[in-house]
This record gives sequence, C-alpha cells and structure tokens, in this order.
Amino acid sequence: MRESNELKDEFLAITAHEFRTPLTIILAHSQMMARLLRRIPNLDLNTASRLDESISSVETQTRQLTNIVNTFLEVTRLNRGQITLAREIIDMEELIAESVNNHRTTSTLHAISYTIESAKRAYIVNGDKARLLQIFANLLQNAIKYSPPEGVITVTLKQMSNGEGQSMVEVSIQDQGIGIPKDAQSRLFERFYRAPNIAGGQTRGVGLGLYIVAEFLRMHSGTIRVESRGIPGEGSRFIFTLPLLQDEEMRS
Ligand SMILES: Nc1ncnc2c1ncn2[C@@H]1O[C@H](COP(=O)(O)OP(=O)(O)O)[C@@H](O)[C@H]1O
Ligand SMILES: [Mg+2]
Repeated sequence: MRESNELKDEFLAITAHEFRTPLTIILAHSQMMARLLRRIPNLDLNTASRLDESISSVETQTRQLTNIVNTFLEVTRLNRGQITLAREIIDMEELIAESVNNHRTTSTLHAISYTIESAKRAYIVNGDKARLLQIFANLLQNAIKYSPPEGVITVTLKQMSNGEGQSMVEVSIQDQGIGIPKDAQSRLFERFYRAPNIAGGQTRGVGLGLYIVAEFLRMHSGTIRVESRGIPGEGSRFIFTLPLLQDEEMRS
C-alpha cells in the first residue's frame, strides 16, 4: 500500500512538471485562434459558429486539465514540505459567498442554500486566501459531485469554542447525496483514498481533494471531520473549523 502511494506520488510529481508548459501553450494558442477567427472575412455563419464551439471546447477542457495538474503540483509540494502560507485578514462570510456564487453558475441544477447563524461579529480569520478558497471549493465540489442533481446543499457558518478558550468559526457543508460508509470515514483524508460508492454509480476522481483540504486546514490550525450514517440519500456533512482572529490581534 505504502509502495503504491509512493509510486503514485512520483507519477504526480513528473506529470505536474511535464504537463504545465504544454498546457499553457495550448491555452494561449486556443485563445489566439478565437481572436483570429473573428478577423476572417466572409466566413459563413455556420462554419464560424462551429469553429467557435470547437475552440471554446479546447479551452474549457484545457482549463480542466490544468486544474488537475495544479492539484498534482500542490500535493507534490505538500509531500516535500514546500508550501508556505500567505497571511491576510479574511472575512469568511465573504469568501464563502463568493465561492458559492461561482459554483451556482457551474451547477445550475443543484439548489445550494446558504445560511449564516446570527453572529455578534464577523467571522474574521488570518489565512491564505487562495488556500482557504480551495478548501471550501473542494468540499462544495464533492457535495455537488456525490449528490443527485436536485439535491439541496446547505452551508452553515457559526462560532464555537475549541474547548481551550480559542474561538473558532465552524463551517458545515451538508448534502443529500450517497453518504459515506462508517468504515470508510477514517480513511477519507488519506491521499488517493476513494470510498466504495455505496450508491453503485461511478464517479471520476483521484482521491486528492480531501487530503489537500485536511493538510491546508492543519497548516491553518484548523480541523475537519465528517458525519454520515452511510445511508444513501441521507447524505454527508463535512465540518471544518478555523481559529477566529481576536479583536486585539486585528488592531495590532
Ligand atoms: N460529499 C460526499 N458524499 C459522499 N462521498 C464523499 C463526499 N465527499 C467525499 N466523498 C468520498 O470521499 C472520497 C475522497 O474525496 P476526494 O478526496 O475529494 O476525492 P475524489 O472526489 O477525487 O474522489 C471520494 O472518492 C468519495 O468516496
Ligand atoms: Mg473531490
């Protein structure tokens, strides 16, 4: 098992480095073709629209592949301890609202509902914005991927204490999807692990999303856990926490 993960890690590292340059070049050329297309005189409408569709399809697929390669690169960096976090003051409510809205356009079928439990103050954290967005996006994308199209996804934010006097923001993402068997739950955050699909369907993936989520949270002194009874349709809930910035820390 360990050996096979090491082989996969090696493959990731090679892919991450070798694929990036060609992908950047393909993307640049497809963008140039789209621009040139508009300059071709006397092109009939039908041909123009078909070419336009082909070029956009190349562009979309290249972006998807680039996302996968970027995931490989992040995992390679995590394995080698090469990630350093940027630190800035972030309003989690804004960050999540932004991400939810981006996903609404990519998943028009899912009803993503979004509630914020009344708080006396804003949920401000000190963290790496790109990485915090990645954490939330990976969880939301899973909720979308492992739920039926009409499933409701509920995102909740609230404040809690971690038991050591530290105030935390708790973000929960609840879906109505296939759920996760109890005996698979402890392994979900391992890299490359994918749970047996209890609904019997097939979904694509490499099993790195939750590993990245857990590692990024650990680097931010946060936590993650999952709750699911493993009953299809009852869904899963992923809950993560991050330390809230205290008022006095914000002033200093
Ligand atoms: N919301 C969810 N509902 C059901 N299963 C999930 C959910 N999120 C994650 N999983 C399970 O956890 C596994 C690991 O997730 P992840 O690391 O994001 O990898 P991937 O999505 O590429 O398979 C998934 O393969 C799936 O079995
Ligand atoms: Mg995933």
